[in-house]
Amino acid sequence: ANNQISVKLVLLGEAAVGKSSLVLRFVSNDFEENKEPTIGAAFLTQRCTIGDKNIKFEIWDTAGQERFANLTPLYYRNAQAALVVYDITKPASFIKARHWVKELHEQAAKNIIIALVGNKYDLTLDSESGEEIEGARKVSRDEGQDLANEENLLFFETSAKTAFSVNDVFTTIGEKIPDA
Ligand code: GTP
Ligand code: MG
Repeated sequence: ANNQISVKLVLLGEAAVGKSSLVLRFVSNDFEENKEPTIGAAFLTQRCTIGDKNIKFEIWDTAGQERFANLTPLYYRNAQAALVVYDITKPASFIKARHWVKELHEQAAKNIIIALVGNKYDLTLDSESGEEIEGARKVSRDEGQDLANEENLLFFETSAKTAFSVNDVFTTIGEKIPDA
């Protein structure tokens, strides 16, 4: 079969957690050390084949800065999938992620697929030894997994910088999208 499927996907999360960097990694397999904040929102597309599905991701990358908060409902309202992103070295960003999950459950489509994404995994590892840097991680894997279990979310820890698990996020969502 040759299923052509479009998937409207939105990224939400506090400023500077790495939303745009995850998209840049997925779409261009690239990373920028000093990426500028998103103004309003950015739209990008990426095609990929998952099994017998030919998926076109239509990606709305929202701005995390508070001054754009009133715009975000426009982008998640008809989304079929959402990435709620936090930074595993920033506890406040995890609290913000909880709020986004709640808002999506109240306001977004009932069948929306939500992935909780703890980004910047690389910052918790020593780049030489690959061992955990003590104290670098501020949100435990269990805290993320527990929230995901409670709220029925997919859960990933990622690094846009090293590409760790970034494709997994999109591929898993693609697999979950019902065939046309
Ligand atoms: P807004 O658009 O303001 O909401 O921010 P954003 O969530 O899109 O964050 P952005 O992708 O612009 O990344 C913010 C900063 O974090 C940039 O300097 C990125 O280089 C850096 N960054 C993003 N992802 C990672 C990561 O996985 N690891 C590390 N070490 N830095 C990252
Ligand atoms: Mg951005």
